[in-house]
Amino acid sequence: MIIINFKDYDESTGENAVSLAKEFEKVFNETGVPIVVVVHPFDLRNVVEACPNLAVYCQTADGYTLDESHTKKKTQTGRITPIMLKKTGATGVILNHAENPLVDDEIERIVNDMNADFPEAQIVVCAGSSERAEAVSKRVEVAYIAIEPPDLIGGDISVTTRPEIIEEAVEKVGDNVLVGAGVKTAEDITKAKELGAKGVLLASGVIKPKDGGTPYESLIALTKAF
Ligand code: G3P
Repeated sequence: MIIINFKDYDESTGENAVSLAKEFEKVFNETGVPIVVVVHPFDLRNVVEACPNLAVYCQTADGYTLDESHTKKKTQTGRITPIMLKKTGATGVILNHAENPLVDDEIERIVNDMNADFPEAQIVVCAGSSERAEAVSKRVEVAYIAIEPPDLIGGDISVTTRPEIIEEAVEKVGDNVLVGAGVKTAEDITKAKELGAKGVLLASGVIKPKDGGTPYESLIALTKAF
C-alpha cells in the first residue's frame, strides 16, 4: 500500500489537490496497487467527488466536544467529526502526524469516537519512534501504525536507512506497520517490505519529484515495488 500525504503543498491543495488526485487515481486504475491520498479537510469533498475509485483519507479528525457529564454535546461546531467525515465520503483518516501531533489521551478519544460513528473508516496513527508506536498500539486498535522519524520527514534520506527502527516497530506492534519519511524509490519500498512493513507513507517524493519527472511518473515508478 502506498499512502500519499498531500500536506499543504501548493502543488497538492485547492484545485491542484483535485488534478493531482486524478493523476494518482489513473495510476491506481492502471496498476491495481493500493493507493491512498491523504488530503486537507478543505479539499476532501472535491477530491472524493472527482476520484470515485480512489481511497481518500482526511489529514486529521477531531473527537466530539463533551458536556459537563462527559457525554457528547448534542450539537458540534467547527469540528471534523466522524459523522462529518463519513458524510463527506472519506474512507479513512490519519492521526498524530508529526506535523499535527496529539497526546495519547486525544488519540484514544478520537479513535473511540470514530469507532462509534464511523467504524468502517481506516485509521492510521503516526508515531515518531517504535517506543511511541508501541505505546499507541497498547491504547488503541487501528488499521495501521505508521513510523516516521521526524528528522527524516521531507528530506532525501529514507527511513529504510535505519532498518532497526522498522524491525523494532514490527516486533513491538505486529504486522500492521507502515513506514515513512524520505521514501523516494521503489527500492526504498522493497526494503521496507523486506523489513516487515506493509506499505509506505510519503509526500515530497511524488508531489515534488526532483528528477524532472511528473507526479504520475514518480508514482508509477514506485508501484514497481508491488
Ligand atoms: O506523511 C508522510 C510524510 O511525513 C513523509 O514526507 O516528504 O519525507 O515523504 P516525505
